[in-house]
Amino acid sequence: MQSDTLFKTWAEIDLEAIRYNIGQIRKLIGDRVKILVSVKADAYGHGVVAVSRTALAAGAEWLGVSHVKEALELRAFFPKVPILILSSGMRGHSRHIIRNNLTPMVCSVEIARDLARTALEFGTRTDIHIMLDTGMGRIGVWHENCLPFLEEVSRIQGIRIEGLASHFAAADDPDNSFTLHQLQCFLKVVEDARKQGIDIPIKHIANSGALLGMKESRLDMVRPGIMLYGVYPAPHYRKIIELKPALSLKTRIAYLKTVGPGRTISYGRTYTVKSKTRVATLPIGYGDGFSRAHSGRGEVLIRGKRAPIIGIVTMDQIMVDVGKIDGVSVEDEAVLIGEQGGDRITAEEVAGRIGTISYEVLSQLGKRVSRVYL
Ligand SMILES: Cc1ncc(COP(=O)(O)O)c(C=O)c1O
Repeated sequence: MQSDTLFKTWAEIDLEAIRYNIGQIRKLIGDRVKILVSVKADAYGHGVVAVSRTALAAGAEWLGVSHVKEALELRAFFPKVPILILSSGMRGHSRHIIRNNLTPMVCSVEIARDLARTALEFGTRTDIHIMLDTGMGRIGVWHENCLPFLEEVSRIQGIRIEGLASHFAAADDPDNSFTLHQLQCFLKVVEDARKQGIDIPIKHIANSGALLGMKESRLDMVRPGIMLYGVYPAPHYRKIIELKPALSLKTRIAYLKTVGPGRTISYGRTYTVKSKTRVATLPIGYGDGFSRAHSGRGEVLIRGKRAPIIGIVTMDQIMVDVGKIDGVSVEDEAVLIGEQGGDRITAEEVAGRIGTISYEVLSQLGKRVSRVYL
């Protein structure tokens, strides 16, 4: 794989780690609770088809994506697997949803009616999931107003309410009081609906943070995303579960030169070399999803040692100082995320350097980064 010279920069995806992480989730939640894996945004940058296939083979039952377009791409590969669209749909989506047997998340009567009308036109009916807002403030019917909404939707011919969902706003906060409040609001709607004769088979609310931190939130199905990829939603979860990181981001030194004191490196001349050193140029930049915020910040692993990024990150290339590392040569492997020589740079570390979260670091990896499956 490393001899393929077309791979200027690549992400190695360890599918065994994905399998392991699903196994770890299953061990924690038992057999009764279903697993929907969040594979939106190209499986958080890992490649949606390979990750979905692996997760399903390891015991996940549902796939969750963000948008109908993502769902259609997956349907072509997985004709029978339930696919839930986690964002709110629009009217133009109904015929795609019905024709391809996708499951929409619904939070308006208008959309529910449109789906029902379309289903009847196709001579079928469709299952839907309803999204409640218990405190996320994103999509969903406010929980206080949900009962009349559920009653109205449950009377529409052509649709069946298969699922009831909500989403936590702060599940990874060690103070879980708001998460508990959201769960209680959700369970109250479940109970009130049941009293009105509306019994919904699949109730789900738990993302990675909640399924780890609040056992009682697991309900009928959990929706892990980030932990599937072996990344902890927050550091305090490390003691609850062992996960294996699935993605390593690697490249090779494209160019190497000796640079004397007084020379400046990259756009804007923000970095001046103080004493004679060697500078390596790596073929990765913000055009590959490696944020410009890494300019002058952070490190990569070369020959098992940390080389600091110097100067501004450009669209296609970055520069690192390798003056303190012995024996460096052109085409040496450089690791931006992952392990080399006993040291490891995690996605969390990379995110922390630039004030963001691992979700963003991973999902931003661009198309130019070849995905290589191990
Ligand atoms: C509705 C919904 N469910 C589940 C998830 C998975 O969350 P996480 O990756 O934190 O496990 C997400 C991700 O943002 C989401 O938007």
